[in-house]
Amino acid sequence: MIKLGGSFITEKDRPYTVNWEALQVGIEQIKAFYEKHSPHMVIVHGGGSFGHYETQEVKRKRGFIDCYGVALIQRSMMILSLAVLDTMVRKGLPSSLHPPHSFCKNENAYECNYEVIVDDLEKGLIPITYGDSVFSDKGKIISGDDLSVAISNKIGADCLIFSSNVEGVLDKEGKVIKEIKKGERISINKNEVFDVTGGILSKVEKSFLSNARNVRIVSGKDIYRALMGFEVGTKIANRS
Ligand code: IPE
Repeated sequence: MIKLGGSFITEKDRPYTVNWEALQVGIEQIKAFYEKHSPHMVIVHGGGSFGHYETQEVKRKRGFIDCYGVALIQRSMMILSLAVLDTMVRKGLPSSLHPPHSFCKNENAYECNYEVIVDDLEKGLIPITYGDSVFSDKGKIISGDDLSVAISNKIGADCLIFSSNVEGVLDKEGKVIKEIKKGERISINKNEVFDVTGGILSKVEKSFLSNARNVRIVSGKDIYRALMGFEVGTKIANRS
């Protein structure tokens, strides 16, 4: 289970801008691992300057996420997801795209219907999904991190790799924290950019909910090494 963070695959400060170079780098590594080990894999990607930007715009202009706001955010994420799908398929990877608003009734990732994703996975496809907007009692955001953890447990994933534009979880001095144990108090770099779905601390907290053996938060440049089980980024010691 691999999450391509929005901060990695988009230019965070430029609305609706894909970071094509980073996307290539990330998917090149996914391809290398796929060709070497023929694993079952699911890809989730984040919102970056598409979904996060559009959500902030909708809230600023409309006060809350109404039906039209949901449509705007869904559209922004579909545009980005096509860039991810296109890059995967151009590299020869047999991918299928699954918009969460078609299989999640609300923002709780644990209540989504993953049947088609699991089915595709078993047939040899590489399902791609992403953080999205769904309408329950009002417009909500379903986080790509929540989807990643929920899917990792649903499919019994061995690895859950969160990638972003930083080397891992950074401490106050900006150094990578090598390992985080459950319940451990960490003081992180407060300059970290926060986003509409919670930022790095909530990512760490959520990561502990995964049953995967190898859970890591890494730079997008280290996806391959993380999948190989090398000591890169921050290890989430969810089993000790
Ligand atoms: C956000 O998904 C989706 C929307 C805002 C619509 P994520 O929360 O997983 O995105 P990143 O990885 O932090 O950008």
